[in-house]
Amino acid sequence: MAANLLSDMSPATRRPLPPPSSERFARPRLAEATTPAKGELVTTRDGRELHLRAIEPGDVAALQRCFSRLSPEDIRRRFLHAMSELPAPMAQRLCRIDPRFETAFVLMDDTVQPAEMRGVGRIYVDEAANSAEFSVLVEHDWSRLGLGALLMQRLVDDCRQRGLSEVWGYVLLENRPMLQLCKELGFTRRLTPEEPGTTQIALRL
Ligand SMILES: CC(C)(COP(=O)(O)OP(=O)(O)OC[C@H]1O[C@@H](n2cnc3c(N)ncnc32)[C@H](O)[C@@H]1OP(=O)(O)O)[C@@H](O)C(=O)NCCC(=O)NCCS
Repeated sequence: MAANLLSDMSPATRRPLPPPSSERFARPRLAEATTPAKGELVTTRDGRELHLRAIEPGDVAALQRCFSRLSPEDIRRRFLHAMSELPAPMAQRLCRIDPRFETAFVLMDDTVQPAEMRGVGRIYVDEAANSAEFSVLVEHDWSRLGLGALLMQRLVDDCRQRGLSEVWGYVLLENRPMLQLCKELGFTRRLTPEEPGTTQIALRL
């Protein structure tokens, strides 16, 4: 259900990215028409355009190219360990989601050929706990433009639509950008003695 969230939005909408943190939650969202097939058009603070949509099985190559542009630090912050490549089976698995338990949004740059993936946000639902674990990633050249906040807000919205009671994730203690972003969104930190160097952040829904 939730993975169809964007495709269910008819007509598709065009929304600006979240404004700076100081005014992020004070501004109403705007809506204009855009190209439905590509998803929801979003414009970054510096005027670049991306399409936000649900991930698709055909995104494997774009996901692998996106991974290949990441720094070792960003890979470690996203996957919590080092990885030199994103193996094809794993990329396929990440693109072919089970909508009963997963939602994954991508930010696609359709101004280049082939289209490139600039950001990904996903959740995995734990039915027994009525909660979901999130992860988010924005390519470095596209960071500090509000995209991480946009993805997180959409994931939180999706968790609420699913009726979940909590969304949570592991974040490295050194990952100041992510901790700051989550703090602004109202997440709180939990101690994780069993995972040194890592903290669990959670938002009650
Ligand atoms: C963390 C990450 C998702 C942030 O994405 P982003 O698109 O740059 O974030 P945004 O532009 O939406 O920033 C939102 C807020 O987060 C905070 N923030 C983001 N980057 C920051 C940085 N480098 N230093 C301090 N604060 C930062 C700011 O408060 C920012 O608001 P502001 O720009 O209005 O001040 C991105 O850096 C990333 O992909 N990192 C690697 C993967 C990762 O760490 N994932 C999280 C664990 S799953």
